Amino acid sequence: MDGAGRIYLKRLALSTFRNYSALSMALDGRHVCLYGANGAGKTNLIEAISQLSPGRGLRSAGLPDMAKVEAGQAGSNWAMGATLFDGDMDRSIRIDASMEGSGRGKRSMQIDGAGSTAGALSELVRIIWLTPAMDRVFAGGATERRKFLDRQTLAHFPNHARHSTAYEKAMRERNLLLERDFPDPVWLDGLEARLAEHGAQIAFNRVQTVSRLQAAVETRPDGAFPKADLGLEGLAEEAFSEGKSVSEVEALLKDALSEGRRRDARAGRTLSGPHRSDLVVIHRPTGVPAALCSTGQQKALLIGLILSNARALEAEEHLRNPLVLLDEAVAHLDPDRRAALFDELSALNGQAWLTGTERSLFEGFGDRAQYFEVSGGEVIAQD
Ligand SMILES: Nc1ncnc2c1ncn2[C@@H]1O[C@H](COP(=O)(O)OP(=O)(O)OP(=O)(O)O)[C@@H](O)[C@H]1O
Ligand SMILES: [Mg+2]
Repeated sequence: MDGAGRIYLKRLALSTFRNYSALSMALDGRHVCLYGANGAGKTNLIEAISQLSPGRGLRSAGLPDMAKVEAGQAGSNWAMGATLFDGDMDRSIRIDASMEGSGRGKRSMQIDGAGSTAGALSELVRIIWLTPAMDRVFAGGATERRKFLDRQTLAHFPNHARHSTAYEKAMRERNLLLERDFPDPVWLDGLEARLAEHGAQIAFNRVQTVSRLQAAVETRPDGAFPKADLGLEGLAEEAFSEGKSVSEVEALLKDALSEGRRRDARAGRTLSGPHRSDLVVIHRPTGVPAALCSTGQQKALLIGLILSNARALEAEEHLRNPLVLLDEAVAHLDPDRRAALFDELSALNGQAWLTGTERSLFEGFGDRAQYFEVSGGEVIAQD
């Protein structure tokens, strides 16, 4: 297979991670299908891959939760190793999670044998995923949709993680300060300036991502996974869409915070800002908001958005293709839609990892994928 320019996993190794004692998998660059019974360890495996991206991975789990529980005993350390074929060379990655010290554990990274950081890793490889837990993203509240959007955004802008953390921290401090009878206005000014600065960046990243996503939607084939029209609701996002600059949006956010002090103090939280924004998704074929679509339509929209984002990432000149993790995405699709999904994945440059309970679900993929049977924390390559 011609690998020039592509990025994909060539090797994956795990040690005392979830239900895996020790695992080593060799991959040849094709898509990867994992099949096996419930509880076999399929999701755990792609959760391990998601550790290569910023944040907590596809189950939002803490480091201690991912350590293998043995004989009823909570686990201690875990490690993963990966060889990433990066366009023209092999990069070797290692993540070690150690539970010594603080209860939350500590993670250290190596790239090509030298100590590195999550930031450097996120510059190296972009990862997007779809899990059954995301099925309710349209029907649920704005929080879920924002999380979904921010996950897509992170793949485009790894600095999104840093801005989000700084924003949350400043917001917590402001909320605490507003609980006081006479909060120091100078201190509040400083915190609000930080909120506005990071908030503007967060909104900017989102607006850029949605615009890239929408452009990619237009390049996808019509049919199995309907196109969506996307929008963003939120003061800062809307201001960017109207052509305002970063400094103008920052000023806008800062004014809104300053004016909202009394209201926020009464509410006990910050009521304006990009932590309240929402992603609007319209099912184009019917013009109906995604929240009102049928379960099957929502799932198809979601798959379409993930496929669009994979295309959007590939379209960026400075980026290579992402890795695409699709947990249980095929089980509920009819055979035509499954075939369409395999075709769309094959039209991408990247490597997709798919899970399902039976091999027959992947029949239409043929030799465009590699197959592995997962059973009791072991993985066996199949012909
Ligand atoms: N920290 C851990 N230590 C040991 N085992 C764990 C740990 N966390 C989860 N498990 C076990 O891993 C097993 C496999 O989980 P996983 O979610 O990967 O299964 P799956 O193959 O995706 O199944 P399904 O088809 O039901 O989604 C479960 O039985 C679970 O109890
Ligand atoms: Mg699973």
